Amino acid sequence: MNIHVKNNIFWVGKRDWEVEHFHGKEFKMQRGTSYNSYLIREEKNVLIDTVDFRFRSDFVKNLSEEIDVKNIDAIVINHAEEDHAGALAELMALIPGTPIYCTANGVDSINGHHHHPEWNFKVVSTGDSLDIGNGKKLIFVETPMLHWPDSMMTYMTEDAVLFSNDAFGQHYCDEHLFNDEVDQQELFDQCQRYFSNILTPFARLVTAKIHEILGFNLPLSMIATSHGVVWRDNPVQIVERYLAWAADYQEDRITLFYDAMSSNTRMMADAIAQGIRETDPRVAVKVYNLSTHDKNEIITSCFRSKGILVGSSTMNNVMMPKVAGMLEEITGLRFRNKRASAFGSFGWTGGAVDRVATRLQDAGFEMAIALKIKWRPDLSSLEACREHGRRIAREWALSPVPAADSAAAKIAAAAPVSSRDDGMTEAERSGSQKMICTVCQWVYDPYEGETGQKAASGTPWEAVPDDFLCPGCSLGKSVFDPYEG
Ligand code: FEO
Repeated sequence: MNIHVKNNIFWVGKRDWEVEHFHGKEFKMQRGTSYNSYLIREEKNVLIDTVDFRFRSDFVKNLSEEIDVKNIDAIVINHAEEDHAGALAELMALIPGTPIYCTANGVDSINGHHHHPEWNFKVVSTGDSLDIGNGKKLIFVETPMLHWPDSMMTYMTEDAVLFSNDAFGQHYCDEHLFNDEVDQQELFDQCQRYFSNILTPFARLVTAKIHEILGFNLPLSMIATSHGVVWRDNPVQIVERYLAWAADYQEDRITLFYDAMSSNTRMMADAIAQGIRETDPRVAVKVYNLSTHDKNEIITSCFRSKGILVGSSTMNNVMMPKVAGMLEEITGLRFRNKRASAFGSFGWTGGAVDRVATRLQDAGFEMAIALKIKWRPDLSSLEACREHGRRIAREWALSPVPAADSAAAKIAAAAPVSSRDDGMTEAERSGSQKMICTVCQWVYDPYEGETGQKAASGTPWEAVPDDFLCPGCSLGKSVFDPYEG
């Protein structure tokens, strides 16, 4: 059963109301998902992506009811992850010579999953196009790391539809296909959950790629994603959201999460939260227990926050395992422009809090002082926790706290002040600043240069040519940040 998308474009995908997890068990889906595949019936018949491998037989059967699959002239695989290319082998068994348009990395990942190097691959790069007749073309745009190195988008001229694959999608299932037909709160909650849990590490790349696509000045009537809705009502709205989320996003919000052997660390969390709220009632304060709350909701809340407080009891002189796992995940997400602090209760050693603080610092957070309490907090310890919260509220305030507060002024006065006000590090001034690729972590060292790319030894980053490409992942200068390691 197809759904008419526009003119000669039809949705031939699969809804999945029941699915609960993605990426193993790491991403919990609250509202199912869909695997969107599109059939374009111009002078040429073109299939854009397929569906999850679990539905491969249903997909081919349903597709065969729409079209004699032997009449499919071309298949576009924007991304080879199994939720989009999972039905490819089943389909290709019926039409083995059909050309498959994908990126060079797509050939590698399609072969890596399906093991059919004999398939008729047509490798495309940004700007390449396919004439589909009736005066229309498909233009391909590589989007590496959104979400895999193989990813690309496909733009259909005349109809002005962008088939964006994972980008601008969301794990959201609804019987309706278009963005204006569904519950808006549900939709945007799932968009943000998807971005914060999956795309945050590639935020810089999102910005660069969106600006590259906007630079083509192509009209845009729809964004046809591969998960969730098709954006037909003001499709630019989701592009604008992505640009905002990719720009070191934060709200006036603080998230506390913890795990505890008894209720002692939880008591600390509650008291710290009280102190924050008392001092700056403008701040949204959220408290989560890692053992009981949805991990992906916690990550989404961290993404929205200006700062996080991470608590752990000390167990065997280290942090609680769930806290360690969460910190590992947060490190991988590479949040930017956020503050952090550690807290926790202990009995005879307080090793967990120190380890949490170190991990947060290593993950790039701007650290505030930690707080340890021995055994169960008594009244005076709880007051110390509240005072800690008050201090955090003042230090992390985005603007002066509402009530006149001399303590805030003292803290501001005591805060370290940059020795110069030009915002540059000494390394940047001297031209020795190393730069790290935020996508693959390759490091540019001016001392060594990169002679293969016209950057001789001793070339400062500013003098490296604009067409420099990261030797690790082939992305441009825009994804590099100063490296302090
Ligand atoms: Fe929806 Fe990267 O797969």
